[in-house]
Amino acid sequence: MIKLHDLYFKPFISEKEIDTAVQRLVDEVANDINDEIPVFVGVLNGSFMFVSDFVKKYPNPCEVTFIKLASYEGVKSTEDIERLIGLTQDLSGRTVVILEDIIDTGNTLEEIHRIFKNENVKELKIATLFHKPEAYKKDFKLHYIGINVPKKFIVGYGLDYDGLGRDLPEVYQLKTTQHMTNFVLFGPPGAGKGTQADFLKETYNLVHISTGDVFRYNIKNETALGMLAKSFMDKGELVPDQVTIDMLNSEVEKNAGANGFIFDGFPRTTAQAKALDELMESKDSQIDAMIALEVDDEVLVERLLGRGKTSGRPDDADEQIIRNRINEYYKKTAILKDYYMAQDKYCGVDGVGSISEITERLNKVIDAL
Ligand code: IMP
Ligand code: MG
Repeated sequence: MIKLHDLYFKPFISEKEIDTAVQRLVDEVANDINDEIPVFVGVLNGSFMFVSDFVKKYPNPCEVTFIKLASYEGVKSTEDIERLIGLTQDLSGRTVVILEDIIDTGNTLEEIHRIFKNENVKELKIATLFHKPEAYKKDFKLHYIGINVPKKFIVGYGLDYDGLGRDLPEVYQLKTTQHMTNFVLFGPPGAGKGTQADFLKETYNLVHISTGDVFRYNIKNETALGMLAKSFMDKGELVPDQVTIDMLNSEVEKNAGANGFIFDGFPRTTAQAKALDELMESKDSQIDAMIALEVDDEVLVERLLGRGKTSGRPDDADEQIIRNRINEYYKKTAILKDYYMAQDKYCGVDGVGSISEITERLNKVIDAL
């Protein structure tokens, strides 16, 4: 992933794919031109890299010149095409091939045709490395097309976003979801996960997705997914991962503008962790970390017994039950710790101390993500 000015872009077309496309265009053009020496006209600025690679591969003698047009503002094509440098030589009777980096709406191409209207060239052909067919609004024939791309903003290989990115040897696509910070939050019973999640969501403007809450919400409101989940629970069966993932997906989509998500209570298995990675990837995003509050067993037992005295929760009153719950937690999360460690995403945070001390430690970890 790269950042140019304020926007994030992801790898989209590799150097190798570009090279293959350029070679194919060269072959097609060379094949169509007989004995003449063609004039290749590059359209600056964007086409400089394409023209350079194209003519290096071109097997026969050729001439190269440039015109310079400008149309783009930020990430939007504009109707007004500025003619910054026009034709500087007489091309009458010549076979001309326009070399464009990208043809989007076709406004620039229309201006090119206007430029060549009275030039009396023998032939005018259009070759473009990239083309956005969904955005194209004109009828001019495109004789040679390298790679068709979706109607999304791309940079690299000559293409820029407000001046940056032209130098990149490969092409990147604007991310549909801009940068989010997402992590899964873990902690044994009594570690203070809920308390800390509340602080974190405030500080970083994150959405806290507690799987338990999501389930209860869907079942209570009788959503299609809630009813589906309930049908498994009523039979005493585990709810299939896909149903849970679909529920999480709808939570993520409901909060598409969020700075990120805290996942709580999910994943519990490697399969679920993988499914969550895929979900985030489908949103052009990612899980950045597994953040686990680490608290010594004896401290947890003491805390929970203390809580049991005031809360009256029966599972907080019995030391053996408490120890079993803690063991259960480590048994279940060990596998996830391995999974995220293998990706260098495991962050253990010391969960012993005052609430504000622990918050401070968590903030440090998140600031570094
Ligand atoms: P058109 O006039 O809409 O066909 O756009 C053509 C010009 O807009 C190109 O020569 C580029 O300079 C620019 N352009 C179009 N799409 C993109 C893009 O995705 N990234 C960067 N520049 C683009
Ligand atoms: Mg251009």
